[in-house]
Amino acid sequence: MCGVVLFKVFIMLSAFTLITEAQYSRKDNMDAPVPKLITANGYPVEKHRVTTEDGYHIQMHRIPAGRRTARRTVGSGGKGKRAVLMVHGLVGSSGDFVIMGPKNSLSYILADAGYDVWLGNLRGNIYTSHQNLTRNDPAFWDYSFHEHGKYDAPAMIDKVLKVTGLSKILYIGYSMGTTTFFTMMSQKPEYNDKLIAFVALAPAVYVDNMKEIATFFLKSMDIITTLRQRGMLALGFKQDVMDFVAESFCTARNPESDVCMRIMYSIVGEDYEQHDWDMTPIFIARAQPASWKQLEHFGKIAMTSVFTEWADGLWGALKPYRLDNVKIPVSLFYGLNDRLTEKSGILRLAAELNETGVLHSIKGCNWPKFNHLDFVFAKNVGKLVNRPLVGHIDELHNKYYVQ
Ligand SMILES: *[C@@H]1O[C@H](CO)[C@@H](O)[C@H](O)[C@H]1NC(C)=O
Ligand SMILES: *[C@@H]1O[C@H](CO)[C@@H](O)[C@H](O)[C@H]1NC(C)=O
Repeated sequence: MCGVVLFKVFIMLSAFTLITEAQYSRKDNMDAPVPKLITANGYPVEKHRVTTEDGYHIQMHRIPAGRRTARRTVGSGGKGKRAVLMVHGLVGSSGDFVIMGPKNSLSYILADAGYDVWLGNLRGNIYTSHQNLTRNDPAFWDYSFHEHGKYDAPAMIDKVLKVTGLSKILYIGYSMGTTTFFTMMSQKPEYNDKLIAFVALAPAVYVDNMKEIATFFLKSMDIITTLRQRGMLALGFKQDVMDFVAESFCTARNPESDVCMRIMYSIVGEDYEQHDWDMTPIFIARAQPASWKQLEHFGKIAMTSVFTEWADGLWGALKPYRLDNVKIPVSLFYGLNDRLTEKSGILRLAAELNETGVLHSIKGCNWPKFNHLDFVFAKNVGKLVNRPLVGHIDELHNKYYVQ
């Protein structure tokens, strides 16, 4: 019984996550590239391309100055300013940090506060490609956050340091963007020397809440193996199917008849009050593909309760990542109603970081229903999280940035 329900949830969630642009492309803001959105909001923007050691091209987006100071600093870029690198979560992109507009989204708020803001992208999303592989090549999709940490994040950090001439920057991660940070530090601890501090929004390291669902899909159903055998290279569905699902299930604008968000909320925690109904289609249209291995790797971590490497596979030996390789101050933020990266898992992470002396702070968002997606999509995410966060980031800079 539970299995059937979970299966439905999975199908719906997949559908929900993977609906592509077609249906919504009539509306402007839906699928405009991130640099266009930033320009449309009156901010300066730059595109930078980096290539990872293993051949992935990544387009980064930079907001070198705020709205008011844009005219003055254009040309001179953000030289001499404090820089932050922001790294998105699963099925996300640099767009996650701009999508709610200047009043709410962290990248704009930081740019207006004087920061040189760099938005990262991780291999797999639309702002990435590969030297020799196309998206139809299974090898293109052979990665998880292990590779994000080993290749993508280091390449992006080096790029920011090179362009800005700074010796250190601050890293902000959301969800899988935090997993990426920890796998990077485990594999390349020399990056401690390039970062001032780490701000972790909804850190995804211990995800025991997902144990049951992961066991069901990966073990009982063995669903990914089946989909792989059918030739599906990544979590991405046919557009017409998705259009049908979106039209049938994702058009309600109230909690009673809303199948879409209810399914989503069963995973991330319910928060209708912070849900902006106008954002649902935008959110769906902008979702990016996930590699099977990302999902399986999170599954391995959920099922074993160990923040382990993929190593020799889903059922292979455990090889814990070295959290004790982190040497810079870490601030953790969680949502009180986040079911995906739930509080107890973040407290466990906090305790371990505290033991090695790097935990700077841990804080829950005041809003009692704050869920996993609210860090990006809450109606009032500016007021609830992002504006206060600027003060916190200032404090980290003042305290730990010795040039
Ligand atoms: C891509 O192909 C070129 C030419 O064969 C080769 O030199 C390069 O190493 C390849 N890159 C990767 C990441 O495999
Ligand atoms: C961190 O460790 C100190 C000293 O052992 C302890 O007093 C404090 O409660 C710990 N904080 C967290 C969040 O674990």
